[in-house]
Amino acid sequence: MAAKRKSGSSEFARAERAAKFILSKTKLRPRIGLVLGSGLGAFADEFSGATRIDYKKIPHFPVSTAIGHAGKLVIGKVGDVAVAGMQGRVHFYEGYSMQDVAFPMRVFGRMGIRAVILTNAAGGINTGYKQGCLVVIRDHINLFGANPCIGPNDERLGPRFFDMTTAYHKPYGNAAVEEGKRLGLNIYEGTYCIIGGPSYETAAEIRAMRALGADLAGMSTIPEVIAARHMGIKVLGISCVTNMAAGVLDQPINHQEVLETGERVKGQFVALLRAVIPRMAKDVA
Ligand code: HPA
Repeated sequence: MAAKRKSGSSEFARAERAAKFILSKTKLRPRIGLVLGSGLGAFADEFSGATRIDYKKIPHFPVSTAIGHAGKLVIGKVGDVAVAGMQGRVHFYEGYSMQDVAFPMRVFGRMGIRAVILTNAAGGINTGYKQGCLVVIRDHINLFGANPCIGPNDERLGPRFFDMTTAYHKPYGNAAVEEGKRLGLNIYEGTYCIIGGPSYETAAEIRAMRALGADLAGMSTIPEVIAARHMGIKVLGISCVTNMAAGVLDQPINHQEVLETGERVKGQFVALLRAVIPRMAKDVA
């Protein structure tokens, strides 16, 4: 049985409706989707031959309330690769359910997207990281506890039980590390962890996360990764360390600083995405 939702229709039917609406606005048929987190949305303004669609026009699509999120889906080309880029995402701290947060991945899946790049801003738990560095996410720890696949499973979206040992597609991660090094970027690899937000973590929470093996603290991405893997979509995750996590430095965490670091590193982040996209495109062609 399909999960029944607020509108009365199944998640599958709602995703199908949103996907059809989006594809009716463009001739492009992207196989790669991007979620551009805080401050990175401007990358989608550089897509060529772009069609821009306000989230609020897309049936059932959740609309972001976060500052610095444009709330548009941009379908266009990066070089000669067609992509669909989300300028901003919704988070559960905005009051959305895990299913709502993951819904854009459902739509991506129904659009024929086979690979996603999920980006975010994160706090650096690993003391080897530096503020402003980029980290390829190799694995995650979900301390939030909830999961977008809770509820009756719809086999049309994916199986009831599915593997998460290789949630982050290794060859994509390797390609990102290689391209990052080639570009001379400060690039690392690590495990991403969320509690949920919107409060930043306490220093004790960060120590606990470090003891568990986490390198990065964030507030997003994991629900999208789970839904993507449920549908068999391959995932590359990249974090920008906008600040060192709570207690790492002897100073409080300041949202303004998080935004400013994201802004400062944006050029490097975009260069990395531009380098990785053609390599992923070969895989999903
Ligand atoms: N913690 C959680 N999420 C974040 C952080 C942080 O320190 N910085 C940016 N996003």
